Amino acid sequence: MAEAMLKVEGLVKRFGGLVATDNLSLDVRDGEVHALIGPNGAGKTTLIAQLSGFLRPDAGRITFTDRDITALPAAARVRLGLARSFQITSVLRDFTALDNVALAEQARQGHSFRFWQPARSDRSLRGPASAALEAVGLAHRADDPAASLSHGEQRQLEVAMALACDPRLLLLDEPMAGMGPEESARMVDLLRGLRGQRTMLLIEHDMDAVFALADRITVLVYGRAIATGTPAEIRANPEVRTAYLGESEGT
Ligand SMILES: Nc1ncnc2c1ncn2[C@@H]1O[C@H](COP(=O)(O)OP(=O)(O)OP(=O)(O)O)[C@@H](O)[C@H]1O
Ligand SMILES: [Mg+2]
Repeated sequence: MAEAMLKVEGLVKRFGGLVATDNLSLDVRDGEVHALIGPNGAGKTTLIAQLSGFLRPDAGRITFTDRDITALPAAARVRLGLARSFQITSVLRDFTALDNVALAEQARQGHSFRFWQPARSDRSLRGPASAALEAVGLAHRADDPAASLSHGEQRQLEVAMALACDPRLLLLDEPMAGMGPEESARMVDLLRGLRGQRTMLLIEHDMDAVFALADRITVLVYGRAIATGTPAEIRANPEVRTAYLGESEGT
C-alpha cells in the first residue's frame, strides 16, 4: 500500500457555534486521486483552506510528507509542494495567460516583491510557465489576455497556475464549477492526464467526473468523514446513499 503523503488527524474548525470540521481524519496516499464529496456546507472548502494554510484549525494535526505543517504559513506549504488551484479572482485579467502562470511560478519562488516586474522578461520563468500551459492544453492561448479566455479556459488556466508551482499534492476545489458539458469533459481529460504524475485531492459535485477520476473517495457530511473507500465501495455504502448520493443522484 502506498504511503500517506498527507495525513489529517482529529482536525476541528469552529465558526462560532458551528463545527465546520468535526474531528476529521483523512489520508491522501502517494500518487492517488482522492475525491472529497459531500452536500453543500459539508465543510469541503473549509478543509482545503486549512490544508493550504488560509485557515488555522482549532485542533488537530496536518502532516505533509512526514512534516507537521499545521502551523506553517501558506507560502511555506506551497514551497513544500502543496498547491491549491487558484480561484478565478486571482487571475489577472489584463495579463496574458502566460504571464499569469509565470507570476504564479514567481510567487512560489518567493519573489512576490518583484511582482510588478513583467514576469515574462524573466527567462527562468518562461520554461516552466509554458510547460504548464501546454499541460492544460492552453499553449495556443499563451499570448492572449486572460480576460479573453472562456470560463472553461480560465479554469484550465487556474490549474496551470497551480502546476507551475510544481506541486506534489494538488488541491482542487470544484474545478468544473460553472462549466458546460463540453468544458467539463475537457477538464476531466486534463485531470486524467495528470493522474500518476500528481497526487490530487479533488472536491467535485459532478459525480460522473468523481467516479471517472478517483482512486478513493471520502464522503463528508456536517464536517465529519462518514466513509472512505474505492468508488465501488462508496457507491454500495448504505449510509452514503442515504446521506448524499440518494438525494442528489436519485440512485
Ligand atoms: N468564514 C466563515 N465564517 C462562518 N461560517 C463559515 C465560514 N466559512 C464557512 N462557513 C460555514 O461552514 C460550513 C462549511 O462551509 P464550506 O464552504 O466549507 O462547505 P462546502 O462543503 O465547501 O460547501 P459547497 O459544496 O457549497 O462549496 C457552512 O455551514 C458554512 O456556512
Ligand atoms: Mg465549497
